[in-house]
Amino acid sequence: MNSHMTILYYFIGCCLLLLSSSNYAAYSNKTFITPIKLSPQLTPIQTNKVILGNTLFEDKNLSNNKELSCSSCHIMSKSYSDNLPFSKNNIGKNTQYNTPSVEYSIYNYYFSWTGQFYNLQDHISAIMSNNKIMNRNWDELVQQLNNDKTYQRLFSAAKYDSISQHAINDAIINYIKSLAKQSRFDLFLLGDKSKLSKKEIAGFNLFKSSGCVSCHQGTNLGGNVRQKFGLMKSYFNNNKIKQRDLGFFNITKNEDDFNFFRVPSLRNVTNTAPYFHDASADNIEEAIKIMFSYQLGIKASEQDILSIKSFLESLEPIK
Ligand code: HEC
Ligand code: HEC
Repeated sequence: MNSHMTILYYFIGCCLLLLSSSNYAAYSNKTFITPIKLSPQLTPIQTNKVILGNTLFEDKNLSNNKELSCSSCHIMSKSYSDNLPFSKNNIGKNTQYNTPSVEYSIYNYYFSWTGQFYNLQDHISAIMSNNKIMNRNWDELVQQLNNDKTYQRLFSAAKYDSISQHAINDAIINYIKSLAKQSRFDLFLLGDKSKLSKKEIAGFNLFKSSGCVSCHQGTNLGGNVRQKFGLMKSYFNNNKIKQRDLGFFNITKNEDDFNFFRVPSLRNVTNTAPYFHDASADNIEEAIKIMFSYQLGIKASEQDILSIKSFLESLEPIK
């Protein structure tokens, strides 16, 4: 081996060592969980965007048959989900997936259960043109809002140049952004250790040491990676599963994506039962137990499950 090659191998070796040791650190001591900081006061224009976005979000004119608004399924009093296994679409049939909360969507990097969208605009556009949900033609909607005195006023107060598809999306995104509130866990991460009880801290430590954090990380404790559901054993052998869904494979038809789903956010998760894309877990204890077993290959004790549950409760938004 010539000296150049030796240096090269040495270099690669060092890189690998560095990579593996930093991974180890990430899963043990450090975590890739970043807190939500207190957001600065909104400017009057931003506030008007939120008001407009909220009005659009609750307006049934956004759907073709005028029967659905965004808030039909993403209900404020239900943490912007609806606590149903499946919602009813525009012909009264069940939606393909459980409705996720949009409360913290602004911090996601992947959107929808399969994670097939990479920004909110694209997801909103897909919902608007989905023939089973809003089924709405943009040109017609833009035309209708342009003829509406209330909307003329709201769009101009929010300083949009015109009433357009772009402005509608932007206002809805501003509204969704306004929903994300700090939790006690954020204040804890920002330095106020008194915000979490001993029990909740023990739960957080277990969340890290047992490996939940290897998938549920980032600001949302999720939303930034896709992973196989049933990593340790097939979830679809679970006798509660009636219909097998292949996840991201449905979109790509690539076998590597078999049963891959977006790792969902765990913020305010204790208020958004039932759980999983197919609503196959009725309550948070069951969801935690399934995660231990199918994602980590651990048979969790009742005490471990309750410990994690108390940690997850610290992720509820401060009222
Ligand atoms: C009929 C019920 C229903 C209506 C109406 C509805 N949604 Fe949803 N929404 C869902 C379901 C179900 C999903 C999950 C879809 C998937 O994973 O493919 C979802 C997913 C989302 C997501 C992705 C969340 C994330 O972080 O991944 C956003 C954002 C969203 N909806 C916003 C909206 C907006 C904005 C409207 C109105 C224009 C709307 N929804 C109308 C049921 C609904
Ligand atoms: C290997 C990656 C991975 C690990 C490890 C993991 N999860 Fe998950 N988690 C996922 C995926 C993927 C989903 C979405 C599954 C689905 O519905 O298709 C999920 C879903 C969840 C949900 C349901 C969220 C909802 O809104 O329906 C909860 C709660 C949860 N995980 C908690 C945990 C806990 C607690 C641990 C540790 C005991 C853990 N997870 C470990 C990948 C993981």
